[in-house]
Amino acid sequence: MDPQQQPARLEDCRRCGLWRDATQAVPGEGRRSASIMLVGEQPGDKEDLAGQPFVGPAGALLDRALRDADVDRKTVYVTNAVKHFKWQLRGKRRMHKTPAQREIEACHYWLEDELRMITPRVVVALGATALHAVMEAKSLTLTPQLGRVLEHDGLAVVAAYHPSYALRAPDASARRHAYETIVAALAQAARLAART
Ligand code: URA
Repeated sequence: MDPQQQPARLEDCRRCGLWRDATQAVPGEGRRSASIMLVGEQPGDKEDLAGQPFVGPAGALLDRALRDADVDRKTVYVTNAVKHFKWQLRGKRRMHKTPAQREIEACHYWLEDELRMITPRVVVALGATALHAVMEAKSLTLTPQLGRVLEHDGLAVVAAYHPSYALRAPDASARRHAYETIVAALAQAARLAART
């Protein structure tokens, strides 16, 4: 396919090279009428195999944070900034590899498509990659944005650490703090979405 050509379907996407090593593209999932959209970085190993976002260990943590924030996962739309799993083999395990800026930009086509389809009121950006993709600002630093309500193209955006960081940060207090930012961002998104 001509790389300049816009693919009609996500599963046919060749806008960057990540499709080659992935099992499949992982589309967003959730209600079309959702007022809150959660954006992660990219599918992980489990998501790549299942074809669904946030169904592995990071997804389990996200589910717990949603419960603690009193937000029903069935009412939100969950997706990723990059739709194919980027990985490198370590031993026998496929380990996550951070997507390159050009891959995030190539995949923005699909994020825009989802934003047009869902028209959420609030987007929760989970981690720096999601924040860069949603805000279209690659130099934005995550930490100063925590707890703030940002605005992009008429959309309210709140940021949180990525669920994987809340699982894997080296010390327990960093993990707890990261988890709390996720719960706080989800609760804030729910309050913003409920405003008329
Ligand atoms: N991490 C993400 O950013 N997204 C997923 O879907 C799973 C793990």
